[in-house]
Amino acid sequence: MRDAGQDDAAIEESLDPADWEAARDLVVRVAGEAVDHLHAVPSRPVWRDMPPDIRAGLATPLPEGPTALENVVREVFDTAMAYPMGNTHPRFWSWYMGAGNLTGVLAEFLAAVQGSNLGGGNHAAACMDDQVAGWLKEMVGFPAEASGTLTSGGSEANLVGLTVARNVMAGVDVRAEGIAAAPRPLRFYAFDQVHGCHLKAVEGLGLGRKALRLIPTGGDFRIDLAALRVAIAEDRAAGLKPACIIGTAGTVNAGQRSRLIAARRVPPHPLEHRADDPPMRETDRDHVGAAECVVHAD
Ligand SMILES: Cc1ncc(COP(=O)(O)O)c(C=O)c1O
Repeated sequence: MRDAGQDDAAIEESLDPADWEAARDLVVRVAGEAVDHLHAVPSRPVWRDMPPDIRAGLATPLPEGPTALENVVREVFDTAMAYPMGNTHPRFWSWYMGAGNLTGVLAEFLAAVQGSNLGGGNHAAACMDDQVAGWLKEMVGFPAEASGTLTSGGSEANLVGLTVARNVMAGVDVRAEGIAAAPRPLRFYAFDQVHGCHLKAVEGLGLGRKALRLIPTGGDFRIDLAALRVAIAEDRAAGLKPACIIGTAGTVNAGQRSRLIAARRVPPHPLEHRADDPPMRETDRDHVGAAECVVHAD
């Protein structure tokens, strides 16, 4: 409750800076340091261990008072920026990880400044979001009526894709009835080089870890199609419902692709064939092939 007579202006609270000119100076300085940081990445060591005092400074209890923004920024540069994982370095060979770039920095910055919710609405950023999804559909030859969305990364994208496969193949309205109402348990197939996010996805989708059958690969780290056929036949015979073959266009370990187009035609194929399927062939040896594989995915 407000006290009678309290001045409206005095009680107005805002997260805006108290001094916009000082805020501008800070942003310009931080932007300059950030660009210098990016420029210097190749000349820094790939990785450095944190000195004990830096590590200790990152394990302190909850602060009880505020810290000036300028000091927070300084602390970030002295800690997080100074001791990175190393994945943005050109000589980082530990796993496969995205590295970002200057364009991405600007995109993230402007997206945060623009600040719109892209769940819908009549505004330019929502149209831009649709436009980019439309361009991606065009790039891979998806029909105009296909829908699409931008996600935060591979795990979320695969979760969305596998959710669609689950809902289409379950044989019930999963959104209304839940997966327990499906007449037959679903089975998904992937080669044993597949990224771990698929396992997490089937767990999260309530299908259970057993729903993902990992098919062995040969010395070439590509899927054994004969083993895939056997697995599907076994599952059908056991009353399970083959629902989805997960293809990979570039594995984490070997940069290898599953035989995507060929796997798509494994009979008895659990998924609908499109009328314009190409004759079976092994085109997924080069990048053109990888793109073609995406085109022929459901
Ligand atoms: C082949 C593959 N799929 C999925 C992922 C998961 O992507 P994210 O870390 O963006 O969720 C990765 C990450 O390295 C990956 O290499």
